[in-house]
Amino acid sequence: MHIIGHRGASAYAPENTFAAFEKARKLGADFIELDVQLTKDGELAVIHDDKVDRTTNGTGFVRHFTMKELKKLDAGSWFSPSFQGEKIPELEDVLHKYHKKIGLLIEIKSSRTQPGVEQAIGRLIERYGFSNNTIVQSFDADAIMTLHNLYPSIPGAVLMRPRFGMLPHGRLRHIATFARYVSLKHTMLNPFLINFVQSHNLKVFAWTVNGLKTGLRLQGWKIDGIITDYPDYFAKEGKA
Ligand code: G3P
Ligand code: CA
Repeated sequence: MHIIGHRGASAYAPENTFAAFEKARKLGADFIELDVQLTKDGELAVIHDDKVDRTTNGTGFVRHFTMKELKKLDAGSWFSPSFQGEKIPELEDVLHKYHKKIGLLIEIKSSRTQPGVEQAIGRLIERYGFSNNTIVQSFDADAIMTLHNLYPSIPGAVLMRPRFGMLPHGRLRHIATFARYVSLKHTMLNPFLINFVQSHNLKVFAWTVNGLKTGLRLQGWKIDGIITDYPDYFAKEGKA
C-alpha cells in the first residue's frame, strides 16, 4: 500500500511547500500529493486554492500573479512563525528535486478556468522523463482524458466521490480507457467497491485518511494507496 503525503506532510508543515514535502519524505511517505495552478505567465505554481489568501501573506487570484511575484510571498507564516519564509514552489523545482526519487501525485485544479494546464504539465513531465510513479489526478475526468491523449505514458487518476458507496460499471470501464487509478473519498469506501474498481483494471487510492484505524481497515481491504496528512501513522519507517 502506497503512503501518499497529502500536500506533503501537511499536518506538520505548511501544505504544498518544500518543508511539507521534505517532512513527508522523512516520515516515510513514498508519494507526495500536491496541487497546481497556472500563473499569469503560464508557469505551474504548487498551491491548492485559486487564490493566495489562505496560505500566504498576499491576496488575489494565482492567475493574476507571475511566478516571480508568487515566489516573493510568504507561504509559511500562516501555519506557524517557525516556517516564515517558505515559498510557493514551482512544479519544475519539485520535479527537479523529487522526480524518480519519490512518487509524485500531481493534482490539476480548475482545469476549465486554466486552458492548457494539461499540456503544460505533460510537457514538463516529458522533459524529466515519464515514470509510473509520476501520476496526474483531477476531479475533472476530461482533463485526465485530454492529458492521456496528449501524453499516454503519463499515468492518470480520476478523483471521485462515489454516491451511496457505488460506481457504475460503464463509468469505470470508460475511465479505464484513459486512467490507471481512481482516487476515492475514504468515507465512501467498502471492500466490495474496492474490489469492483480493481476488477476494471484500475487501482484505488483513498483520500484523505487521517485516522490510524481507518487506514489499517483500508489496508485490510487491499487498497492500493492512502492519501494522508500524517504519513508517519502508516509508513513502515522514516528516513534520516
Ligand atoms: O488527493 C485527494 C485530495 O487532495 C483532493 O482534495 O481538496 O485536498 O485537493 P484536495
Ligand atoms: Ca489535492
